[in-house]
Parts: sequence; C-alpha cells; structure tokens
Amino acid sequence: MKPISQSVMVHPADFQGGSLEVPGDKSISHRIAMLAGLASGVSQVRNYLQAEDCINTLRAMEALGARSSFSENGDLEIHGTGGKILEPVGPLNLGNSGTGMRLLAGLMSGLPVSVEMTGDASLCSRPMGRIKAPLEKMGATIELTGERGCAPIRVKGGHLKAIDYVLPVASAQVKSCVLFAGLFAEGTTTVTEPVATRDHTERLMKAMGLPLTVDGLKISIQGFGSKGLNLMARPWMAPGDFSSAAYWMAAAAIKPGAKVTIRNVGLNARRTALLDVLKRMGAEVKIQRTSSSADAEVFGDITVKGQLLKGTEIGGGEIPNLIDEIPIIAVVGALAEGRTVIRDAAELRVKESDRIAVMAANLRLFGVNVEEKPDGMEIVGPTDLKAPSNVNSFGDHRIAMSMAILALQADQPVCINNVACVETSYPGFWDDMKRLGVNVE
Ligand code: S3P
Repeated sequence: MKPISQSVMVHPADFQGGSLEVPGDKSISHRIAMLAGLASGVSQVRNYLQAEDCINTLRAMEALGARSSFSENGDLEIHGTGGKILEPVGPLNLGNSGTGMRLLAGLMSGLPVSVEMTGDASLCSRPMGRIKAPLEKMGATIELTGERGCAPIRVKGGHLKAIDYVLPVASAQVKSCVLFAGLFAEGTTTVTEPVATRDHTERLMKAMGLPLTVDGLKISIQGFGSKGLNLMARPWMAPGDFSSAAYWMAAAAIKPGAKVTIRNVGLNARRTALLDVLKRMGAEVKIQRTSSSADAEVFGDITVKGQLLKGTEIGGGEIPNLIDEIPIIAVVGALAEGRTVIRDAAELRVKESDRIAVMAANLRLFGVNVEEKPDGMEIVGPTDLKAPSNVNSFGDHRIAMSMAILALQADQPVCINNVACVETSYPGFWDDMKRLGVNVE
C-alpha cells in the first residue's frame, strides 16, 4: 500500500490541461454496493470507486452476509445475500461517509437486525435526526447515542409500514434512506422533495426492475413487505464522478487558453449545474454523450476551455444540483471579474466540515475579498493571489482539492495540510495533478 501524506506542497503552474478519466462516481458506487449486496446472485461491477467511503459501505454489506472481491483490473464482483442476512457483529464503521451511514440506516431498518453504526469525528458531528424521524414513523427503532442527536446510531429493524413523507430538507441522502427502507415496507412509500435532488437511487432501482414511480417531486416505491425482498443480480457500471472531474474543469476554466477533457464522466442532469455556472461565467463548455439508452446513468466526455471569467449568482433550486461543487465554485469566483454570490446553501454548514466558514477563512488567507453569509458567501474578484505558507483542509476532501486548484494560480508554492481525507473520494488525485503537468511534492 502507498503511504498517504498528511501534507502536500503544490507549486504554481502554467496549467495547460490535458485529457483524463476520473475514478468512479461515489454516490452511484454506494448505491450499487447496497443493491447488489441485497440481490440474489453475483453482480459484476465496473469502475466501482475504490475509495475509503465506498469500501466502508461494501464492508457493511459484507457484515450482513454479502461477499465481494476486486480483480486486478479493478472490476468488482459482489455475491449478494439473496435474503440470507447475518446480524453484524460489533459496530460498523462508516468512516467519513454521510451517504454510507444515512442510506444504510434505511436499508438496515428493513432487516431483522440490531446494528450500531459509527464513524470519524466529522461524521459523528453531522445531523442524523433527519433520518431518525421518517424511519421511526415506518416502525424502526433508531437511537442516536452521540452528542446533540448525532451518530453513533443504533438501528433495530424489522417490520416496516409504508409512509408518505415530505422531506423537510432537500437531501438526496434522506430521500434515498426512506426509499431503501420503503423497499422492505408493507405498502407504497412516497417521498416528496422540496426541490429536485440527485436521483441515482431512483435510476438504479428502476434499472433493477423495481416498482418505483416518479411524478414530479413525488417518488413512490411499492415495498416487498411480508413477501420478502426479491432482487436479481445484474451488471453495473459507475461512470466517472462529475464531482471529482469538477476540480480539473475549474482548473481549466480559470486559466485563459487552458483546455481539459474528462472522458466517460457522469452527466446526470441533477449533478451537472456546475457546467451552467461555468458557461454563465464565460468558460467554453462542450459535452459529448457516450452512454447509450440502455445505461442506467448518462455519461460522456466534457471539455472545458478557460477564458477571462465574470462573477455570477448561484441560489434556489440550482443548489442541490451543485452542492458538492460549491467550494470549487468559490475558487473560480475568486479569480473572476466582479461579484460572485452564493446563497440558499446553509446545508454546506453540515457537510464534512462547515464549508462556508472554512472556505471563507481559507480564501482570505490567499488575499481574496470574501464575506461570509449565514447561507453562503459573496466574493469580489479578480484576486491577485498571495500564497499563504500553509493552508488546512480541516479534514474535508473537497476543501483539500479546492485549495490545490487555487494554489495553481498563487505566486508561491502552497503547503496544504491534512490531505489524507482526499482518499475518501478521489484516490489518485495528486497523481492526476502531476499527470496534468503540476509539480506536487
Ligand atoms: C449525496 C447527496 C448529497 C451530497 C453528498 C452525496 C448522495 O448530500 O452532498 O456528497 O450520494 O446522496 P445531501 O443529499 O444530504 O445534500
């Protein structure tokens, strides 16, 4: 195993770009592990994200009785439980992953098991009351044993009844948690979203032939109930993760003349609002779809060319569609001419770190004019970036990678501390940065 450095030094670069593929989609990989782990038979999975977060979800499914193995070329084989569920021994550790913990809580609620799930300090400080409420309405027992309604979480699952649930927050994780529980419930569970969020769970469940229907913002799943779950294994493919590709798109967008092509990356319309933002700011964006209508998810090649950019406003229904890209959008805003305003994004305060506070503080270290707001920030650019000697990721992978892209435009090398977290979503990030011509130590 390669050692993981805690700090990297990124040298400013005359970034010209290039062409690459990024690792598999994190959201999709979690869901594939869960669905294939429940199915009868063997599922072959291409491009599963071999990063800590998704490996932890795979391990949790193994604790329930599934088996899995990676071949040398990275393909994954999952032998599903087919209904032969084991009661996990000891607590399951989901590491840094909110998606893993929240979606698995839904799945475990439908099973006759009593299980404890825990995670790292960041995960154990994130709100879990948002999943406890619907799961208890369905009949599960959910205990939050951490401080202030946080993990560790104890789930005692069993017979669930269907519910109609209106989500109080726009969250694909909460929606998916209820849909996974709904799979096991007696009757039809309906979830209504306040605004559209990523729909990977819906797409993958439909691809398995499950009775799931979507009517605007209402999603309904007919549960198996006392009949018992009946899911068949099928082949899966995770396209490249759009949120990982976003760093290279931003690196090209902020450098006039640079050009990046990311091949075979997910183009799910609920994930790609960053492309609209980059276009509004003045970057050139081209998309070529390579998936076919038989694929559960849309994917293709994205090319971004850098130009002199101008500020833009981001808010409302666009937010869930670019929620994980806001740190890197703030970086782009710092280099664009004029005001970039991000609002309606208070959810960022309960991600892997408080991304509003951390981004505002880190941008200031580079001399950026940024004002923190309760639900976002305002940035006035362009900035003549002054490199701080050190900047901290606060253990948040998206902050670490955003800082690395900002450092490319600084006047001196920047040491980014606490970067082991990048392994949770993008193993190979620093190697890809080197491949694109940047000096990284
Ligand atoms: C995710 C949904 C989003 C996102 C997270 C992954 C998912 O969280 O920020 O990185 O896979 O469903 P919320 O739905 O809680 O906003």
